Amino acid sequence: MSNVDLRVRIGPLTLRNPFLVGSGPTAKNVDQIRMAADNGWAGASLKLAIDPVPYLSFPPRYRWLKKEKIHIFTAEKRLTPYEALTAVEDARKAVEDFAIIPTITYDGEDYAGWGRLARRFEEAGAHAIELNMCCPNMSFNLSSTGTSTEKSTGASLGNDLENLPKAVRFVTEAVTVPVIVKFSPEGNRLAASSRAALDAGAMAVGHAGNRLGIPDVDIRKPLDPVYRLQDEITLGCISGPWLRPLALRDTYQMRHHLGTDAFIIGSGGITDLQSAVQQIMVGSDAVWICTETMLRGFGWLPRLLDEFVDYMQAMEFETIRDVRDLLHRNITSAQALTIRDGYAAVDTEKCTSCGLCWKIGHCDAIHHSDGTTVVDPALCLACSTCVDVCPAKAIRMVER
Ligand SMILES: Cc1cc2nc3c(=O)[nH]c(=O)nc-3n(C[C@H](O)[C@H](O)[C@H](O)COP(=O)(O)O)c2cc1C
Ligand code: SF4
Ligand code: SF4
Repeated sequence: MSNVDLRVRIGPLTLRNPFLVGSGPTAKNVDQIRMAADNGWAGASLKLAIDPVPYLSFPPRYRWLKKEKIHIFTAEKRLTPYEALTAVEDARKAVEDFAIIPTITYDGEDYAGWGRLARRFEEAGAHAIELNMCCPNMSFNLSSTGTSTEKSTGASLGNDLENLPKAVRFVTEAVTVPVIVKFSPEGNRLAASSRAALDAGAMAVGHAGNRLGIPDVDIRKPLDPVYRLQDEITLGCISGPWLRPLALRDTYQMRHHLGTDAFIIGSGGITDLQSAVQQIMVGSDAVWICTETMLRGFGWLPRLLDEFVDYMQAMEFETIRDVRDLLHRNITSAQALTIRDGYAAVDTEKCTSCGLCWKIGHCDAIHHSDGTTVVDPALCLACSTCVDVCPAKAIRMVER
């Protein structure tokens, strides 16, 4: 009998496990939601719905740059409120034990409209309401490329500490279901913004991980399109495995500033057991996964869930809370590092004299006068670059 319990709770809402389909093109309609539910996902944050109908909504143009492990896009189709409300209503009839979480943005004149819009989604059957204060492809993208909008939306609103609490407050006062606010790390205000959202009554906060970047251009044809069937390059929203180290940092920062009680949903580059557990270990209670569902559908989760349970049993963890924050606790300030003295030692039996470590630019300790690699411990900084550079695993670090 397994003692492992993967459930997590956002206030009154219980998720059967921490895996949510992140808002995006794989959470637009009831068929996708049914597939996700059948494959064991705990819920889905629906594709963003904007009211009034969005000023930016194009047919999608994506690039999956496999070698770099970067997914990048600018052009993207948003849902109308009608489409999203229909998806919520249909999904409520189609699936059980699966959290249906519409993601919304209100872009009308006032902030009270956020509450009115959220209420419509609660009436349609939403289990929670997610506020998009994360999308960098809205006014944040426009202001980064020199155009301004009257009102800030997406990532710009998430950085606007005066107005974001107003929008959150209108929603938390209008609905009874949990309110989740999703932020962007762009602007570096994750901690302050998520604190403001929780203070305005949100039950959970999270982040998208995404950064705006410029994709790999061909330097011999720099003006050629990078995206297919789209002429301009534009600043694109980066997702997928490339984001992982940054996304771990994002979650860590939120957890560090919000304390142990806040419910945090992290995302960015999760594809397997390792990347999922790492996200939880730096502070996520649950995770949003988007890019991997675009590339591989939903059918890989059951295996991951089995691996997760096996891993938890092997590690003697029973709940997600046992895993959460483990890594977080070991992340110290740059001032508090424990640096142990040492030097590199070469195993001459293993060394093939390939010469790679001889070239290390910051190292004066490695000599090779007769083709034999020798480290002078007195000159060794113990930085350990040579250990990583050596293809023969001939170098190890020794503590002095
Ligand atoms: C094509 C695409 C569209 C997305 N659309 C939305 C969106 O409408 N709303 C939102 O909150 N996040 C959106 N995201 C962000 C994802 O939900 C997710 O938080 C982010 O991409 C990082 O996770 P990942 O690396 O698993 O994709 C989108 C991501 C992609 C790749
Ligand atoms: S540990 Fe650093 S300084 Fe020492 S030998 Fe290796 S590369 Fe050189
Ligand atoms: S990189 Fe490794 S194998 Fe190559 S010379 Fe240095 S110690 Fe020898």
